[in-house]
Amino acid sequence: MLIVENNPKSIGAEAYRTLRTNIQFSSLDKEIKSILVTSAYPGEGKTTTISNLALAFAQADNKVIVVDGDLRKPTVHRAFEVTNINGVSDVLIGKVSIGEAIKEYSENLHVMTCGTVPPNPAEMVASQAMKKLVEELSLRYDYILIDSPPILPVTDAQVISTFVDGTILVAASSESEKQGIKKAHEQLMKVNGNIIGAVITKVKKKSGKAYSGYQIYYGSESEDMKM
Ligand SMILES: Nc1ncnc2c1ncn2[C@@H]1O[C@H](COP(=O)(O)OP(=O)(O)OP(=O)(O)O)[C@@H](O)[C@H]1O
Ligand SMILES: [Mg+2]
Repeated sequence: MLIVENNPKSIGAEAYRTLRTNIQFSSLDKEIKSILVTSAYPGEGKTTTISNLALAFAQADNKVIVVDGDLRKPTVHRAFEVTNINGVSDVLIGKVSIGEAIKEYSENLHVMTCGTVPPNPAEMVASQAMKKLVEELSLRYDYILIDSPPILPVTDAQVISTFVDGTILVAASSESEKQGIKKAHEQLMKVNGNIIGAVITKVKKKSGKAYSGYQIYYGSESEDMKM
């Protein structure tokens, strides 16, 4: 999953570095520190995208933290192979401090996993405590990357989009029908989410077979979200 680290010379790794550069350029007018990564449907590549993007930021000497905002089916701890004990939900209920919930994957890349899977994820991510957590992390890191559940089945990501600087919409080229992406886009626009770009994953070769590597395509909303 961590292609930027495991195969840095691959085309896929280069695509994540390009995504990083594009985000850095899109923060020229307004500083973009906290970024939500979401998609219309499950399994489109959110966690893979966020993990590799975090590695790319860290390699460019940015201090970055990946926060698992998917309190339903959390997997960030698996991506980085760290323990899921004490994470976001434990901070939100006041069981542990922010510092106690941070795992150091590397010097520049820290991780806050989900922690205990809560019975009320929607309520938790919509809480003032969640907002405060993101604010607090913004003081400590250059970039806060927040993973999330898909937008269409549950409201969590839509809510998070209201208090982050920007949102990236991930879409698997073979799976997301246009309607799904369009609906996800509409849900974000409804709450004035600031969509800073779209990442297309699982891009097919001309032969019709999906690339085995991580092909991604990134574009700004104005050019590429038009449907
Ligand atoms: N750019 C890509 N190209 C090819 N395959 C990819 C790409 N990104 C992710 N995948 C594959 O798609 C599958 C789902 O990826 P991932 O877990 O990142 O999705 P997700 O959106 O986080 O899923 P969930 O909604 O369950 O949290 C994995 O098997 C992963 O290897
Ligand atoms: Mg995921």
